[in-house]
Amino acid sequence: MSFLLKTPAEYQEAYRQSILHPEAFWENIANAYTWRKPWNDVLSWDFHNPNISWFEGATLNITENCLDRHIEQLGNQPALIWEPNDPKEQSRQFTYSELLEEVNRMANILLALGVKTGDRVCIYLPMIPELSFAVLACARIGAIHSVVFAGFSAQSLADRITDAQAEWVITADGQYRGAKQIPLKAIVDEALEISTGVKAVVVVNRLNWPLHLKPGRDYAYADLIKNVTNFCEPVERSSEDILFILYTSGSTGKPKGVVHTCGGYMVYAGYTFANVFQCDAPGKIFWCTADIGWITGHSYLLYGALLQGATTVMFEGIPTWPDAGRFWQIIDKHRVEIFYTAPTAIRSLMAQGIDPVLSYSLHTLKILGSVGEPINVEAWQWYHAHIGKGKCPIVDTWWQTETGGIMISTIAGVTEAPPATAGHPLPGIQPVLLDAMGTEITEDTGEGNLAIRFPWPGMLRGTYGDPERFRLSYFATYPGYYFTGDGARREPGGLYRILGRVDDVINVSGHRLGTAEIENAINLCPGVIESAVVGFPHEIKGQGIYAFVVLDNSIPEMELIYDQIMEGVASGIGRMAKPDKIQLVTGLPKTRSGKIMRRILRKIAEGEINNLGDISTLLDPNLVGEIIEGRI
Ligand code: WTA
Repeated sequence: MSFLLKTPAEYQEAYRQSILHPEAFWENIANAYTWRKPWNDVLSWDFHNPNISWFEGATLNITENCLDRHIEQLGNQPALIWEPNDPKEQSRQFTYSELLEEVNRMANILLALGVKTGDRVCIYLPMIPELSFAVLACARIGAIHSVVFAGFSAQSLADRITDAQAEWVITADGQYRGAKQIPLKAIVDEALEISTGVKAVVVVNRLNWPLHLKPGRDYAYADLIKNVTNFCEPVERSSEDILFILYTSGSTGKPKGVVHTCGGYMVYAGYTFANVFQCDAPGKIFWCTADIGWITGHSYLLYGALLQGATTVMFEGIPTWPDAGRFWQIIDKHRVEIFYTAPTAIRSLMAQGIDPVLSYSLHTLKILGSVGEPINVEAWQWYHAHIGKGKCPIVDTWWQTETGGIMISTIAGVTEAPPATAGHPLPGIQPVLLDAMGTEITEDTGEGNLAIRFPWPGMLRGTYGDPERFRLSYFATYPGYYFTGDGARREPGGLYRILGRVDDVINVSGHRLGTAEIENAINLCPGVIESAVVGFPHEIKGQGIYAFVVLDNSIPEMELIYDQIMEGVASGIGRMAKPDKIQLVTGLPKTRSGKIMRRILRKIAEGEINNLGDISTLLDPNLVGEIIEGRI
């Protein structure tokens, strides 16, 4: 593949070209893909009244690039290897030809139900092959997929269905997670009591539970598939047509529907996959442990890997069941060469000691990756020594739902960075560090808020149905820049170390959550007057959730309140958002104008009680002493 960077000098030259001639640079990469019609314009953009378009005038179908164009040469090569939750159950494999057929069947099912180009389809499925078929089937017929992670509650699912005005839902009876079986269809039923407007629900059978189908609305996938063929013409889409919506948390209580479009996303997912993971030769076996409900699953488990003709592994289960060797067993079983996971998984397995690793050889591994949160040096070293056996480069990839693909990372085996340093910007990416006044920090080394100065093809194009929110969230803090919400340090040699979020977003086990969302859920619990949620360093999860809660006097049994808050958060958002610590307080530290001083609460939660800064502006400075005293 012509755009593969094989040496540091090639990286440097590509980077230089991408800055000097960005349009020519990306045009050259785009030419490696199949388009129905060529573009008139490579790029037009405005970061003030944000409007970004890449490859305007061109048409394509991303599934044609992921599947059809590989068939002649790779038709019989495995495209997808699916490993079930239970190691005793058979894994399933699909060659590129078989995957195309399955995608076509699912696409024909959607067409038969009346799904049209541009319609929104909400996908709420466990990590089973049908999830991949569903995503690609939407793309094939030009429907917009909105995958909702199956850990979200009925309320969250309903909010996302409503916001996207999705008229179609694809789900399953339930899901396996380790030893547990968790219902999904029942959650969809509950969500559809809240959100109306869904015309049809397709239900995949996973647990063999009795399917309670609502007549005229619900259909069993197993029945529908009997009536469709395995051929479906891909729909020609404009480069800037929406490919998908993916909801993510921001500073406010309401998740945003991040919008990605067809052409630029494809070019960026493919280019970054090929380069960062050095996945050039078709058939390399790549395993990304992320759920397809998150952007990493979209861009690398699915689109990036298939665009480049790799074999992608999809795992239904969890790293610690039936034992803490499950990941390592899967690597040996499927001869995984490139392994991409999250620091939280590494830390939780590291905590189990080395024995579960020693039972496996891991000799097929060549490249390791990390994503989702800063990786601490200790976890990096353990990963490098015990999983990579000291011979596999680790790519620490920094990016976001909004960026569509990896932005700052080393290129495996080509460029290098010390542990816990993401590395250099990839070609085409122009990061800047800004101080509080919005001035660029131009020194070689420095620390500030991370922003991007120039568009790249994979960047988000909007927040669904809300252009003003798009502008306010990303382009208003620092006019003329895309603001990431992260802080970073530039180190000698132009390497970037990501320091974490500087806004009210916390990253819990790689799950991105807004503190305001959690507060909203807590505030709805009976007896709660108000609450404030902050993150604190957590050994395994990266960040934990610390909730300060003010109650009224109506609660007869105090113990009940803890359960109610846990339950309130689980049903308002999902179980992953349950607080690790709840401290009942008589009031929250506020300024005289009524603003909660989160900075102080954050310090208390982090245990930095001797360094609280100026508290004299507080309405009631005495509260602070009380809160410190009651610290958990
Ligand atoms: C954080 C996940 C440090 C960061 C792809 C970002 C990271 C947020 C890294 C986006 C990394 C992601 N090092 N921090 N390698 N990767 N982050 O949208 O705070 O789920 O803003 O996308 O995760 O999370 P999201």
